[in-house]
Amino acid sequence: MIRNEIIWITGASSGIGRALAKQLAQQDNKVIASGRNREALADLALESDNIFPLICDLVKDNKDSIQQSLGELTGHLDRIVLSAGDCQYLDIDQNDWSCIDHVMAINFHGSVRAIQAALPLLEKSDNGHIVGVSSMASLAPFTQAEAYGASKAALSYFLSALRIDLKAKNIDVTDIMPGFIDTPLTQKNDFSMPFLLSPNEASRRIIKAIEKRSFTGIFPKRLYWLFKFIAFIPKTWVKINSPKEKASTSEGAN
Ligand SMILES: NC(=O)c1ccc[n+]([C@@H]2O[C@H](COP(=O)([O-])OP(=O)(O)OC[C@H]3O[C@@H](n4cnc5c(N)ncnc54)[C@H](OP(=O)(O)O)[C@@H]3O)[C@@H](O)[C@H]2O)c1
Repeated sequence: MIRNEIIWITGASSGIGRALAKQLAQQDNKVIASGRNREALADLALESDNIFPLICDLVKDNKDSIQQSLGELTGHLDRIVLSAGDCQYLDIDQNDWSCIDHVMAINFHGSVRAIQAALPLLEKSDNGHIVGVSSMASLAPFTQAEAYGASKAALSYFLSALRIDLKAKNIDVTDIMPGFIDTPLTQKNDFSMPFLLSPNEASRRIIKAIEKRSFTGIFPKRLYWLFKFIAFIPKTWVKINSPKEKASTSEGAN
């Protein structure tokens, strides 16, 4: 069981990060809970004396200021869990594709910035641990998920390479790839989400993977096999998912 550790959880003001913060604090860990939403973090801190809010914007704040704020709360870190993220869908017919910049900024660059800020403190632990929350979404292509899937694929690759480079420093790296979890991020989806899990159930499964220091933690397995199957039938998948050709508006013109 993970006990008496100092753990920084990004994206702790909501969803998976919030559930993780509560569960790990209950297990006598000191949890540094970060996000932008001051009110939500203050509310979370009321749940346990082991939770310490850290207000930071992983897109706008620079690495040094985040590092300084962390340093004011702790002298070292045992683990960092990167749960901060967002999902926006691309409409290729719109001129504005800025959702790609937004999603990459928080899901990829924000996670990288948090890791860089945390690294000197993780090096002070006997056996530091970086836990990224990427997604099963990057395992198969989905309509309008260009930004989200690419950001999570980038994060997964980054973590897998980082694992090699941090081995000598005795810092482990785990990549968590959840399926659908019932949080504000998915509550705006208008499609069916098979095998949807609660944030508490996701948190329990993530903690199990963290305890084992596995390279990856993929759940639920039933969805994983479905995604593997989709990746196995690429042509059929494109055919059944592509939007029908839009009716020509120039009909009747001559
Ligand atoms: N829900 C799912 O089905 C699912 C599946 C696979 C992977 N994931 C991943 O799991 C992670 C958590 O998602 P969730 O479902 O729990 O979503 P959520 O409830 O919307 O939580 C997202 C968290 O990210 C934080 N965040 C967003 N932008 C930020 C920024 N610029 N700086 C700092 N923090 C920021 C938010 O905090 P503030 O607003 O306070 O900043 C919030 O705490 C995400 O990385 C998501 O991609 C989710």
